This record gives sequence, structure tokens and C-alpha cells, in this order.
Amino acid sequence: MRSSLLFYVTYLLCLCLGLLCVLFVSYWNSHWRGGFAWDGSSLQSHWHPVLMVSGLVVLYGHAVIVYRVPFTWKQRKHTWKLVHAGLMLLVLLLSILGLCAVFDLHTGLHLPDLYSLHSWVGICTVVMFVFQWVLGLAAFLLPCSPLWFRKALKPAHTWMGNVIFILSLASCISGINEKLLLNINGSSAGTCFAPPVEAKFANFLGILIVAFGLVVFGILSKNKWQRPEVENESSQGAPSWPVVGVTAASPALSPSWPWLPASAWLAPSTLPGILLLVALPSMNGLRKLIIWLYRHGQV
Ligand code: HEM
Repeated sequence: MRSSLLFYVTYLLCLCLGLLCVLFVSYWNSHWRGGFAWDGSSLQSHWHPVLMVSGLVVLYGHAVIVYRVPFTWKQRKHTWKLVHAGLMLLVLLLSILGLCAVFDLHTGLHLPDLYSLHSWVGICTVVMFVFQWVLGLAAFLLPCSPLWFRKALKPAHTWMGNVIFILSLASCISGINEKLLLNINGSSAGTCFAPPVEAKFANFLGILIVAFGLVVFGILSKNKWQRPEVENESSQGAPSWPVVGVTAASPALSPSWPWLPASAWLAPSTLPGILLLVALPSMNGLRKLIIWLYRHGQV
């Protein structure tokens, strides 16, 4: 009970920090940079930090801790997998829009693309994220994905998820630096000795982003806050297929493929067996087709 109270306090902190990050990045771009537009002018590039921070940091951070919320533990994991995937889809859309804001502007103004360290780290982050999303969808939500594949992919999915989050934080910090250096006049003297209010504000945004990241990693690192694994729960990723004698209410027998109980996929003989079952009639059919073609070719 005390552990879940501590969780909710930390979660509230996470919500507040996330909200502050979005407010700070929006205020910075509207107050000091002149606001937003989508018309090919420099105002268009101001969408970039707002969309990237809201998507790949704040929403992403909340999407990765969704399984840790204790009240979700009593519900089906499949429901929360859908919430996780849905939030990640939103992150994907925001990131693509955020990248379009700068790429489109660069094309319009005939400026070079991907010239800075920030852009290199950033583009790698987004490419890895797209790859992770597609693979995660295929492995954990498609009903035809076998249980052994999900089990094998889970540690890599978790590791890659952490790496993407670290890279997102690094992209934001380097992006803030790049934007300040591009925008603030008389940069070296101005930023080193008498930082203008804008630079202080942007630096504070960076601190907020790091603090948000640390709280998310804090939640992820606590074993007590992990969703308790129910036996064969990972097979719940598949929707319940109407198989005779198997009901969706019995997760141990919940099927991961229309004709097979999930546990059957673990048997080493299952896959070769199915391949043989499929291959033998096909080979017979192929043999008949070749004979038929040969005979008709002769005529
Ligand atoms: C996860 C977060 C982020 C990612 C993945 C990302 C990615 C990128 C990429 C790929 C580019 C290159 C675009 C091009 O070369 O055409 C870029 C440019 C840029 N980004 Fe980011 N970014 C992120 C966050 C931020 C943030 C938070 C800021 C500032 C607060 C920022 C500021 C900039 C600036 C100033 C440019 C150069 C724009 C220009 O030259 O006109 N980025 N970003």
C-alpha cells in the first residue's frame, strides 16, 4: 500500500514535470521567437521543438510507464498493450510532423539538411523509434505472432525503448543549444558572461527535460512497481479466437493462432511439424501440376 502511494506521488511529479516541459517550450517559442505558423517562414521551425518535446519526451515517457500504474494490474494486459501502442502511434505522428516542420523549411529556403550533431542524433532517434514501433506492433499485437517470438523479442524491445528515450533526451538538450546559438546575437560574450533572460529560460527548459527523464527512469528501475507477471499472460496479446474447447477466460489455454493453444508453440517439434503438414500436400499438388503440364505440353 505504501509502495503504491509512493508510486502515485512519483507519477504526479512526472505529470507535472511533463506539463511544465510542454508549457516552457511553447512559451519560449511564442514569447521570444515570434510564435507559430505553417507557411514556409521561419515561424514554421518553431513547431519543431514543441512537437519533439511533447512527442518523443513527454508522451513517450508516459507511454513507457503505463504498465507500472498499479490500478492497471487488475485489468487485462492486452488492453494496456493497446494503450501503450496507441500512445506510441501519437508519438510517431508528432515526431513526423516535427521533422516535417524543419525539413520543409530547409527545402523552401534551399538550406542544407542534417549538418549538425543534433540533427544526426535526432534522425537516428526517429529511425530507431519507427523500427521499434513496427517491430513491436508485429510481435506483440498481431495475433499470428508466435509466443516464442514475443518472448525472445521482449528484452530487446525493453533495451531499445530505454536507448530511444536516452537519445531523445540527448537530442533535446543538443537542440536547445543549437537553437540558442542560432538565434542569440553576439553569442559568445552574450551567453557566457551575461546570459539574456531567453537563454536562462531555455537552459531551465533543458533542466526540466533532464528531471523528467530521471523521474521516468526512476519509475522504470524500481522492481516493486513492475506489473506482476501472470503465467502465460504474454499470450493475451492475441485476440481470443473461436477455437472449440478453448475459452478466452482460460489464459493458460488462450490460443495465439487459430488452430493451436499458445503453449504448443513452445514445443520444438511444432514448427517443423506444421511445415511438413503444409509442404507434403503442396509437393503432391506440385507433382500433379508438373505431370499435367508435361502431358499437355506433349499433346
Ligand atoms: C527528440 C527530439 C528531437 C529530434 C529527434 C530532433 C531532430 C532534428 C533533426 C533530424 C533535425 C535536422 C533537420 C534538417 O536538417 O533539415 C533537427 C534540426 C533542428 N532542431 Fe531538432 N530535434 C529534436 C528536438 C529539438 C529541440 C527540443 C530543439 C530546440 C529547442 C531543436 C532544435 C533544432 C534546430 C534549431 C534545428 C536546426 C533547424 C535549422 O537549421 O533551421 N530540436 N532536429
